[in-house]
Amino acid sequence: MLFGIGRKPACKTPVSFSFTICFFMSYNENMIFKGLGKIKTIAGMVLVGAALCCAAAGCASGTPAPSGGEELIETGQREPSTRLSEEDKARLAEGATVHNGPPLSIGLSQIGSESDWRMASTDSVQACFSAENGYDLLFDDAQQKQENQLKAIREFIDQDVDYIVLDPCVETGWDSVLKEAKEAGIPVIVYDRRVEVEDESLYTAWIGSDFRLEGDRACVWLREFLLANHVNREINLIDLQGTLGATAQIGRTEAIEQAVAENPGWTMVGQATGDFTEGKGLEVMREFLNRLGSGVNVIYCENDNMAYGAIEALEEKGFTVGTDLSKGEILVLSFDATRNGLRLTLDGKIAVNTECSPLYGPALTGIVERLEDGEAVPHDTFIEEGQFSAESYIGSLKVNGESYPVTALTEEMIGERAY
Ligand code: AHR
Repeated sequence: MLFGIGRKPACKTPVSFSFTICFFMSYNENMIFKGLGKIKTIAGMVLVGAALCCAAAGCASGTPAPSGGEELIETGQREPSTRLSEEDKARLAEGATVHNGPPLSIGLSQIGSESDWRMASTDSVQACFSAENGYDLLFDDAQQKQENQLKAIREFIDQDVDYIVLDPCVETGWDSVLKEAKEAGIPVIVYDRRVEVEDESLYTAWIGSDFRLEGDRACVWLREFLLANHVNREINLIDLQGTLGATAQIGRTEAIEQAVAENPGWTMVGQATGDFTEGKGLEVMREFLNRLGSGVNVIYCENDNMAYGAIEALEEKGFTVGTDLSKGEILVLSFDATRNGLRLTLDGKIAVNTECSPLYGPALTGIVERLEDGEAVPHDTFIEEGQFSAESYIGSLKVNGESYPVTALTEEMIGERAY
């Protein structure tokens, strides 16, 4: 389990312990990396131009082409799914840790641009690992393909970068390439989704969401909602899954499957992957509706973009999306809580939206700088996330004995959302 940081002489302490901490991230602010090193936010960071960030990022594999973005379909009820405004992007740079001295080279392998969440995540890391902050970012968009990520990591190793930062598309298949990085003495920081490796010392640190907890919170909300509304009927659910094998899919799917097993009136009538994209969410939902007709009550969408597609498919078939099951309305659950997702939540089309934050830039720069300073970092860090609904009568939920808040959404919260 010991992994010396290799070439980095500043880091004398091996990251040898597995220690999970949680730190708080509010619904509209960048991550606060509690207790993990100094945050050297420079004055004027908010004015960092996104164009400069992109220029810094573009020096490896070029500007990413959208992998799911071109399939986006406008529903007419929300803002277009475009990249963030320059102002929003500048906000994402807040809280980054600045590196002083010669620029540090960071090889960052991003999964793709399949969702609004993913694009905000890219904006966050590009804004924080900027040239102004002392980094030379080599950014690679893998177009949702693990083989592209493996190739990018090998290129980063050949280029002898100082750090490799990886958001892994799926959990398995990383052992060999991470061994190569370790042999080359390059620390690997994993974020968002996880890698399942035989030897956990193959990566120096992971920071990301508790996806199983996110799923459990959504399912407990549904149970509480049905109880509060005295809904005694049988519930037929469809699960629109994310990319199969991704941690976000695994955790959220496990949660709904367990909830179906534990709630006698709940039946899973359909389950298929929509690959976290709006286009596939629409396509898969259309197929389900053609096959199943009416009789579906709940759609469990494993991210916001698939929820947009599902809602579109439901409405074009004449269904009403909402929470009054007695009137035949179809209840939609979603994850991410992006600005567009929250808009649909406030409008009542998404009943509850469980947050998954994409704003990893500040925390990742913090980890790099702690390692640069020779400090130990936790091997595994879960971030804290929220949950939002337009319904205000469920104020909190209990999952595994822990209490979690459900925030009653307001217009102001949506306005403050940075992505
Ligand atoms: O891994 C995080 C998930 O990936 C987000 O829920 C989804 O929107 C993204 O594509």
